[in-house]
Amino acid sequence: MCGIVGYIGPKEAVPILLSGLKRLEYRGYDSAGIAVISCGKIHSRKIPGKINDLIGVIAKEPLPKAGLGIAHTRWATHGAPNKVNAHPHSSCDRKISVVHNGIIENYLKLKESLISEGHRFVSQTDTEVLAHLIEKFYKGDLKDAVIEAIKKVEGSFALGVVSADEPDKIVCARQDSPLIVAEGRAGRFIASDVPAILEHCRRVVYLKDREVAVLDNNGIRVFDLNKREVRFKFDRVLMGAQSAQKGGFPHFMLKEIHEQPAVLKRLLSSGAREIRRFSYPRKIKNIVIVACGTAYHAGLVGKYIIESLARIPVAVDLSSEFRYRDPIVDKGTLVLAISQSGETADTLAAVREAKKKGACVVSICNVVGSSLTRESDHVFYTLAGPEIGVASTKAYTAQLAVLYMFGLELARSLKTISQNSFKASWKVLNSIPALQAEILKAHRSVEKVGRKHHKFGSFLFLGRNINFPSALEGALKLKEISYIPAEGYAAGEMKHGPIALIDEYRAVVCIAVSSRIYDKMISNIQEIKARSGKLIAIASAGDKAIRTHVSETIFIPKIDEFFSPLLVALPLQMLAYTIAVSRKCPVDQPRNLAKSVTVE
Ligand code: M6R
Repeated sequence: MCGIVGYIGPKEAVPILLSGLKRLEYRGYDSAGIAVISCGKIHSRKIPGKINDLIGVIAKEPLPKAGLGIAHTRWATHGAPNKVNAHPHSSCDRKISVVHNGIIENYLKLKESLISEGHRFVSQTDTEVLAHLIEKFYKGDLKDAVIEAIKKVEGSFALGVVSADEPDKIVCARQDSPLIVAEGRAGRFIASDVPAILEHCRRVVYLKDREVAVLDNNGIRVFDLNKREVRFKFDRVLMGAQSAQKGGFPHFMLKEIHEQPAVLKRLLSSGAREIRRFSYPRKIKNIVIVACGTAYHAGLVGKYIIESLARIPVAVDLSSEFRYRDPIVDKGTLVLAISQSGETADTLAAVREAKKKGACVVSICNVVGSSLTRESDHVFYTLAGPEIGVASTKAYTAQLAVLYMFGLELARSLKTISQNSFKASWKVLNSIPALQAEILKAHRSVEKVGRKHHKFGSFLFLGRNINFPSALEGALKLKEISYIPAEGYAAGEMKHGPIALIDEYRAVVCIAVSSRIYDKMISNIQEIKARSGKLIAIASAGDKAIRTHVSETIFIPKIDEFFSPLLVALPLQMLAYTIAVSRKCPVDQPRNLAKSVTVE
């Protein structure tokens, strides 16, 4: 949700912090702020709005030169996104400044007792209690005060704290919210995510829960909550700085759509090796997939894949539902947790619930070192590189690819697939990157359809069988970035209600690729046509007949229906993108959303 960054070193802190914030803006973008220490005093600027607005304010009211500071980009949870609620938050004497990502669940109780002790609050945020608690416990050692404060709080936090009385250090701590500490020639950093520090260094420490780090000009030290120093190790970040930049595309989303063939190629070589090496449990009774949003849609496709290949029952649950309904999960259950960020609070909670019940947890995740990867028994990485656009694109098809490979390898180990079909399936998978590239080359045809339909007030997406989840995903992409109400439905369900919605003002996207149920889809199309719905079909190349049924067709290369979700996703993403751009929507940063949802 929010993004935090901190810097201490020989360079000018303000530009470093602002450029770090820019790289974290995907995490939240409704307000922002920065604090630096200069001449023993904390100086700050806060604004409602985006980082560019903060840059504008600093240009007008420059901050003093400083070699240390913290900064924050916010996705509001407690309190409106205004200047007062923007971080950093301060203690009463304004000597302590705090940036925070997460939620302090017991903040009301803490606030009441701090107020009764004389502390004065100015904001509606949960974070402000941290500044006052640290002030309360401060006896000349910022680290000790932070430790005492976090012992009192319940909830999740990644914190960066500075004090005017110790102007040469940053103290940071985490619990259930991501935080890295990094070191390079330019100095030392804290950040919510790796892209914030990529320009400056490659050596990072993924802080563990309930660890506190102190960064000063001598180095980095890490402590536990008993104030004992603990060992830590640096990991080397392999991704290049350019992977977190737009690379000539107008939006990250478009860049990420275009990266899909390359991501898939990478997965089919290095990712596949990992998936083959995994020792598949022979005694699993059932598989439960937990995920949210787009990852949940990937999970729904996963059910079709795994059940059909490995003949094991698969249930797919929204993480937020799974954890509260006492799910039937035990030692015989394999739980697959899917998440791009690996920090989605609901998915993490679902995983903890599953582990409590004795299940083995395997995660499919994109972010190395994320909480999910640390809490899982095994991880398959999606190797998609940083996904910055809020709308998930390349991570989705990468999750699908992992599920196909997983399904095939599981089926082989359980002997539910013949050697010939196994080989033939891998052959199809290996052909996908080139087919995806073909679709991207023909982007103009999708753009034409998108521009023609961008004024429609609502959309329906229909699919059947393994492309029913594709329809759900197409609708999610459109609604989150264009704000057009859109629903995804299983085409066979139309007659049970949704057909009442059809009239000439409703655009209906039908996934009608070659399949054994193609004719059924055509019947559904006819029913919509008879009611004047504006039809757009996604069909297989060579399907001449489709044009007699619908006014607009987007063709994709012909492929076995079983693998078609890996292709169908692309025109749906491009359609949503074009419509959102035509409506002048902020594609990479849709309103009210944030890239990783680290709160329940
Ligand atoms: O990081 P995760 O994959 O766990 O995120 C899950 C959802 O929040 C995410 O897929 C969300 O729905 C995207 N905005 C969809 O494009």
